[in-house]
Amino acid sequence: MPTPAMVRAAIPADADAVAKIWYHGWQDGHLGNVPDSLVRIRTRESFWERAADRVGDTTVAVLGDAVAGFVMVVGDEVEQVYVSSDHRGSGVAGTLLAEAERLVREGGHSRAWLAVAPGNARARRFYERCGWVDEGEFDNRVAGPDGVVSVPCRRYVKPVAFTGRI
Ligand SMILES: CC(C)(COP(=O)(O)OP(=O)(O)OC[C@H]1O[C@@H](n2cnc3c(N)ncnc32)[C@H](O)[C@@H]1OP(=O)(O)O)[C@@H](O)C(=O)NCCC(=O)NCCS
Repeated sequence: MPTPAMVRAAIPADADAVAKIWYHGWQDGHLGNVPDSLVRIRTRESFWERAADRVGDTTVAVLGDAVAGFVMVVGDEVEQVYVSSDHRGSGVAGTLLAEAERLVREGGHSRAWLAVAPGNARARRFYERCGWVDEGEFDNRVAGPDGVVSVPCRRYVKPVAFTGRI
């Protein structure tokens, strides 16, 4: 049985590993699934810049000394869920998403949401298996250096409030 991943808040020293996973995973999930205008913004360097800027929003999954994946949570939005290619299908993604849902709940929200490219079939299948529901199409407005880019996305939602009895 594989050792379960540990999750913890990211520290600045994790930013390089996060950027590598983000850069490669972004190609896997997005190339062919998003407009060229977004691909032009998402240069290789942009992943390293954003990984360093966003350490405070990032939770990493760690196996031994290695970062195996990460999520970013801002308010009620799960902004990124990424697992390195050698740890996909291993349960790391589920551990990260459960932690992201906990963080949204801890932030006082009863419902989490995320955006996913319509053609990112693996991610959509994963979210649905984890109890997320497709709430439909929306126009995701992404800020770039030359203005805002329009990216058609699906909006997925999941209730995260504690509803059980004590
Ligand atoms: C999205 C991601 C975090 C999911 O983690 P994962 O470890 O790959 O997820 P799992 O393997 O546990 O589950 C994926 C599901 O998709 C299925 N799947 C695998 N490849 C698929 C494909 N090409 N098309 C459709 N479904 C696929 C799997 O069978 C599984 O479904 P099942 O549970 O019904 O068998 C991971 O694939 C990833 O990092 N992808 C690149 C980055 C990305 O796109 N992130 C999401 C941005 S919104």
